[in-house]
Parts: sequence; structure tokens; C-alpha cells
Amino acid sequence: ELGGYRHYMQKEIFEQPRALAETLEEALSHGDLNPTIFGDHASNVLSAIDSVTIIACGTSYHAAMVARYWIESVAGIPCNAEVASEYRYRDSVPNPNALIVTISQSGETADTLAALKHAKSLGHVHSLSICNAPESALVRESGLRFLTRAGPEIGVASTKAFTTQLTALLLLALVLGKLRGRISAAQETAHLDALRHLPAMVNQVLLLEPQIELWAERMAFKQHALFLGRGLHYPIAMEGALKLKEISYIHAEAYPAGELKHGPLALVDSDMPVVAIAPNDALLEKLKSNLQEVRARGGELYVLADQDSQMQAQEDVHLIKLPEHAGLLSPILHTVPLQLLAYHAALQKGTDVDKPRNLAKSVTVE
Ligand code: M6R
Repeated sequence: ELGGYRHYMQKEIFEQPRALAETLEEALSHGDLNPTIFGDHASNVLSAIDSVTIIACGTSYHAAMVARYWIESVAGIPCNAEVASEYRYRDSVPNPNALIVTISQSGETADTLAALKHAKSLGHVHSLSICNAPESALVRESGLRFLTRAGPEIGVASTKAFTTQLTALLLLALVLGKLRGRISAAQETAHLDALRHLPAMVNQVLLLEPQIELWAERMAFKQHALFLGRGLHYPIAMEGALKLKEISYIHAEAYPAGELKHGPLALVDSDMPVVAIAPNDALLEKLKSNLQEVRARGGELYVLADQDSQMQAQEDVHLIKLPEHAGLLSPILHTVPLQLLAYHAALQKGTDVDKPRNLAKSVTVE
């Protein structure tokens, strides 16, 4: 059943190239960015909406946060991401022209389902769910749907469900951008080509496992860890921190790197490993100066950078270079080493990787 892997989590991490390829299959078969991948009437709905609210819990919420960056920059549509248990109980201002997007691996998460029902009770009529379980309550409750094809995810820590959710959300941002005339034919072809290469790129990142294992050996017996990112990679830092705390029980926090000076820098000393996601994007120079602040306080840096990055390894800077800069796909690729880091830290500590203490796979009660 485990097909040679030691744990479901490891198996599911390594299944990602296949899961992504299958999730993309229908979208790529059209040869264009086709709204019907979200449902027969998606074109009308997606053309009519004037904002997007994305609602989810846990790892799925981190996917929502990445999507907010994508949707605003690619499609130019206002977008917010909300934790389901907050949205359902707060007094929000309904907008009948908003698209309510819910994201869930299981489709049975109580708060996410209740949040969607709550949104409808407020008069929202446009809904889309991105889900890995075709027959689930959430899918039945939604007007439009996109089914991720991760296959069954057994490990409590969400891995392939997350990267397939991200893929679905990037497709949503691109389709919305196209419907609004913000994507030229040449750009459309380039985006589709990049998506076609995604599974192979993830395969390349998986080859970094031995290097990540060395990081995990150094970090496994620390009490705390800090994860930093900016822009699209801030939610990925949050996901890396959640994975680490969930299965290795190391206290991990994520911050947008620009927030460092506003408090968390006080925690940094030689016992505080700091993991930074540092691709060659427009924010790299800003991030580098944040990392200097960490080094100046004796913090040990673990940096994920791109192949052609100018960043260099030093005694207090451990560097792993990902194969190539992937533009909009970069958050998907940077997720993978962080999953492996959490997995190997947990192995070092001997925790129950697939069934971490106190947690359930599906949270079907509040
Ligand atoms: O099934 P869902 O995607 O709705 O689940 C949401 C969260 O419970 C889930 O992502 C949780 O945070 C994971 N265990 C994180 O690895």
C-alpha cells in the first residue's frame, strides 16, 4: 500500500508530479484558458463578478492567501482570504456580485461548509468550491466546482492536496484575467506552457531531498523556528511553519519578512533557525536586508533560492538552490522543500508522522 515509502506523507509528497499532472489534465486539453473547467455556466458567472472572497481552514486557507496575490495581480479583481471559523461568525458586509470560493481537501470541514451556507444566507449567489472529494457536502453546496485530482490523502498533514489546490487557484486567476482582457494570446500560450512543465519542475525539486535532510538534522532538536517570506511566498512560509509544528511539534511561526523589525526580531539568537524563501522576484533585495538583520543577531539562516541567485552559502547561511525561477508557479515549487523539511525533522524526532497527536484528518465538528 505504501509502495516502498515509509509513510503516507512521504508517498503523498512524492506523488505530487502525478497529482498535478492529473489536476491539470482537463485544463490543458482545451488548448486555451477555458472557463468551463469550473462548470458549464462558469463563463457567465466569472464575467459578472466584481470581487472574490475565498474561505477555508488550515492549509487550505494558506492556498487562499496565495490566491489573493494571484487574483489581484493577474486579474485585477479585489480579493480577500478568510478563515472559515472567523467569517461565519463575524458581521461581514455582503456583496451580491462577489464570488465566494471555498477550498477544502475533504469537502467535509464543518467550519468551511457552515461559512458557505452563511455566505448564501447573506444573499451571495455565486459560489465555487475547489475540492478533492467529488461527492462531498461542500461540492454539493456550490454552484461552480473544480475537483483537484490529488487522489486520497491519508496523512493528516496536507501535502499534495495543497499543491493541487494552488494549481486550481492559479487557473482561476488566469481565467479571470483572460475574461477581463488582461492576458494576450501570447501570454496565454506562455502560461499554458509553464503549467504543462509544472509536474517536471516539481520532480526536479524532489531531487533536493538529501540536502533538505541535512537541514532537518540540524533543526530537529531546536525548540523554535521562524519562517520568512514576502509577497506570494509569505503564505508559503506560513504553510512551512504549520507543517513543521504539526508533525515535528517544533514551535514554528511565520512572518512576512518586513514585519521582522516590528517584534519577532527580539526572538532571534543562535538557537533560532530562520527559514527564508528567497526566489529571484521583485522583493528579493528587500528580503535580503531582512536576512542581514537576522545574521547580525546571530540567527542561523536556511535559505531557499533560485539556481541563478547571487546569494551565497556561508557558515551561518545554509543555502539550497531550486532549479529555476518559476514566476507565478514559484509558490508551488517552494512548498515542496518545506514539506520535506517537516517530514525529515519528524523522522529525526520519531514522532508519528501520519497521525500527529491531537489532530484528525477531517475536522467535521467545530
Ligand atoms: O479538508 P480541508 O482542506 O477542509 O481541511 C482543512 C484543514 O483542517 C487542514 O488543511 C489542516 O490544516 C491540515 N492538517 C494541515 O496539514
